[in-house]
Amino acid sequence: MKQPLVRMEGISLSFGGVRALDRVDFDVYPGEVHGLLGHNGAGKSTLIRVLSGVYRPDEGRIWVRGEEGRLEEAVFHSPRDAQQRGIETIHQSLALADNLDAVANIFLGRERVRGLSLDEETMEAEARRTLERVGARVFSLRVPVISMSGGQRQAVAIARALQFRASVLIMDEPTAALGPEETARVKDLIRSLRSEGLGIVLISHDLHDVFDLSDRITVMKGGRVVGTVYTRDVTHDEVLQMIIAGVAPER
Ligand SMILES: Nc1ncnc2c1ncn2[C@@H]1O[C@H](COP(=O)(O)OP(=O)(O)OP(=O)(O)O)[C@@H](O)[C@H]1O
Ligand SMILES: [Mg+2]
Repeated sequence: MKQPLVRMEGISLSFGGVRALDRVDFDVYPGEVHGLLGHNGAGKSTLIRVLSGVYRPDEGRIWVRGEEGRLEEAVFHSPRDAQQRGIETIHQSLALADNLDAVANIFLGRERVRGLSLDEETMEAEARRTLERVGARVFSLRVPVISMSGGQRQAVAIARALQFRASVLIMDEPTAALGPEETARVKDLIRSLRSEGLGIVLISHDLHDVFDLSDRITVMKGGRVVGTVYTRDVTHDEVLQMIIAGVAPER
């Protein structure tokens, strides 16, 4: 295999007495979907918050692929640091500013300026291009996102993540709030982003979707990694055993 886009090594993090992450190893390769599974409280969201710069780990290191394709150690002090290294996250809540329109949401905190004012024209044109890339149906870019459908809001959140040269895209339950048609569209989009060479971390409670989309699966339980397996090598039952009993299949 090539070098990964990111590698997390021996990541530990405690909240008071709770060891949310216990020496976790996790990596993401270009052109792969890496599914992250585990029961409630397993540590999935905490792990991706470390990867996206929200939390600093107590222990462990993060490596990011640099310009020349070599891994470089990275320390993220904020989500902005992780974004600058190409790591973008779509949180389950989508975290959109409801009263702002699609263009403003996509460029929130990273606005294009010309002279002393916002370059609305450029931002709108770029937003439109990115929304087309994510396969969004054309809709008005200038209405508050609160008036949009779930699928359109999802498209805006994904476009925001992709607007700035992402190489790793973290998606926390991307289809949980969507209907069947919109779910199918998001799954198509995930496949097409993978074929563009992005590395995608997919957190989901839907085993079916994860089997459908992922190349590898990592299962967590109690803050630890139970195992990382190639999706094609395992059965649903084996993955369920990993999730429930915390036992990796013997090979
Ligand atoms: N900010 C926090 N303060 C204190 N404890 C936390 C915090 N965030 C997470 N935890 C604890 O860390 C553990 C891991 O939580 P985490 O949210 O990462 O689980 P998860 O796998 O994402 O679960 P879910 O499937 O419910 O989203 C849990 O015991 C949780 O209560
Ligand atoms: Mg979670």
